[in-house]
Amino acid sequence: MPLSKRFTLTRYLIEERRRFPSATGDFNALILDAALACKAIARAVAFGELGGVLGNHDADVGGCVNVQGETQKKLDVLSNEYFVRLNQWGGHLAGMASEEMDLPCQIPAQQPRGNYLLVFDPLDGSSNIDVNVSVGSIFSIVRAPHEVVDSGRDVIEADFLQPGAAQVAAGYALYGPTTMLVLSVGNGVAGFTLDPMLGEFMLTHPNLQVPADTQEFAINASNSRFWERPVKRYVDECLAGKTGPRGKDFNMRWIASMVAEAHRILMRGGVFLYPRDSKEPSKPGRLRLLYEANPVGFIMEQAGGRASTGYEPMLGVQPTSLHQRIGLIFGSRNEVERIERYHAEPVSTEPSNPLFVERSLFRN
Ligand code: AHG
Ligand code: MN
Ligand code: MN
Repeated sequence: MPLSKRFTLTRYLIEERRRFPSATGDFNALILDAALACKAIARAVAFGELGGVLGNHDADVGGCVNVQGETQKKLDVLSNEYFVRLNQWGGHLAGMASEEMDLPCQIPAQQPRGNYLLVFDPLDGSSNIDVNVSVGSIFSIVRAPHEVVDSGRDVIEADFLQPGAAQVAAGYALYGPTTMLVLSVGNGVAGFTLDPMLGEFMLTHPNLQVPADTQEFAINASNSRFWERPVKRYVDECLAGKTGPRGKDFNMRWIASMVAEAHRILMRGGVFLYPRDSKEPSKPGRLRLLYEANPVGFIMEQAGGRASTGYEPMLGVQPTSLHQRIGLIFGSRNEVERIERYHAEPVSTEPSNPLFVERSLFRN
């Protein structure tokens, strides 16, 4: 398609916001600032070793373990700085929070504060960066509580503890063979490809829809001994393939960058599981609710897919802390609903091998 017929991200946002008579330019400007941070990170990722950005963050320039107890990569820290710096001066935000920051980040006192809160995972899949496999960024936007906006006070953790259904926008950038931005402002999901010559995100994938059915699943099978029974059952049935209760073969993928898995699932369907497990009793799941599960959940639901803890819809979960972890299952609607049914069923005393699961041969 010729360039003149393509929408830039800016034009897309203007067209979308026409639906809201009260819309100010504030919200659009906020999304564009987040997109600018993603472009800056895309450049840093593209330079790789040439830019000196690979490897672990240096301990003597600010510490190297984040609040999660995870070793920070140089790119984790740099990406966080880009997000903070490019979003703190615009006047659209009341505050920010990030995977890489223990506490909420304040908008500098001399700057105007706005109506929204931005929460982000600046670099997702960072264990992949040193091996040149796709990584991404994830962000979520909610309204700041009225009282914060009216008083202009500093934000505190409690201001961010809003369920995923309260999100007004969510997006991710994927730094893969091309850089893409996938965005929902609450009216479906659109994908934009970064034109490397223009430095603009161009609308290339309008109205993304997750196919309702799939024969592809993604899970880190090395954790299988820690899985709960419904997850074991689901995976066993997929592995049993044509000769098992599902009566069809499944394919398996694991990139270890959730953004890349989410993108594959948006493009061709599939189901992703990083479920609650018993690996570390203090961590009920690997992924974080506010800046991983909620934004990806919002995008999936906006694209006709589904996101769940297994026990309840992800977007209904009331958060209890900023860096809370949670079991996350998302993707093709029929598959996620099946996994939820397995969680809802009474625990059977039968062994989990599908060949021995009562009645399972007749379940679809
Ligand atoms: P992050 O790099 O932001 O800490 O997130 C990594 C996450 C996610 O992207 C991926 O799905 C998962 O960790 C991979 O975990 P395993 O290493 O256990 O497979
Ligand atoms: Mn992540
Ligand atoms: Mn991260």
